[in-house]
Amino acid sequence: MSETVLSETPAEGVRQITMSRPERRNALDRATYQGLIDALAAADADAAVRVIVLTGAGGCFTSGNDIKDFAAGGLDGPRVAIDFLTAISTARKPIVAAVEGFAVGIGTTMLLHCDLAYAGRGASFRLPFVTLGLCPEGGSSYLLPLIAGSKRAAELLMLGEPFGPEQAREAGLVNDVTAEGGALAAALEKARALAALPPQSVALTKSLLKRGGAAAVAETIATEARHFGERLMSAEAQAAFAAFLTRR
Ligand code: COA
Repeated sequence: MSETVLSETPAEGVRQITMSRPERRNALDRATYQGLIDALAAADADAAVRVIVLTGAGGCFTSGNDIKDFAAGGLDGPRVAIDFLTAISTARKPIVAAVEGFAVGIGTTMLLHCDLAYAGRGASFRLPFVTLGLCPEGGSSYLLPLIAGSKRAAELLMLGEPFGPEQAREAGLVNDVTAEGGALAAALEKARALAALPPQSVALTKSLLKRGGAAAVAETIATEARHFGERLMSAEAQAAFAAFLTRR
């Protein structure tokens, strides 16, 4: 059991996994990454689970990696983040994301690995890797140009400005925009529909959809992680973390 990752069964065949550290906008610290890895493995191992819904508590998806862990450096933080990215990018059962509020950094890049995603009208996305002196992660330097086009991917990954749910939909990060607060209901509706379909056929279709890019995604995650680990220790990145942690 994880204190910051909740697992429940809101409908037959549906496992809802909720990132829950609301006082930190669900920032992903090591324990939360590990909780997500464990929750995904448990859903994979449970034959009663056909679909996973991934969401965040307190009207927020996640503010991304915990910046205190970034600032502390060391290899532990990045390693568990990479293990999580490997788990979500190779999951066999369909994953449907429900995004309200902030989806920052890995909060946005994890959507590239979800099969379906819905965002409330108040959602705000951001890929502030360059702003923080870092570089893209999560396979985003390969997958985002593929789904959003190279110009849009450069805009989102290099400028790192916040963008809204309609832009996220145009970029291919989410399927649809719902009323504010409506993303989870939309995700659960699609999850129930998926859970009612023949599970082997659903799993086969997911694996065929992922097959073409799988090797490139794995290679990109590993290459990005190497650079990202080096960037974490750079003066540029450490200055950006310190600025965030001492901003008031
Ligand atoms: N890591 C660590 N702490 C974080 C965090 C993160 N990624 N995101 C938010 N927090 C903390 C804040 O420091 C604050 O703590 P405090 O109450 O002790 O001051 C608390 O969570 C609430 O955040 P706050 O900034 O007050 O909320 P907000 O609604 O005004 O803004 C964000 C939300 C997500 C826009 C803003 O917190 C933010 O930009 N976070 C950093 C996101 C980021 O750069 N992530 C890394 C991406 S690679």
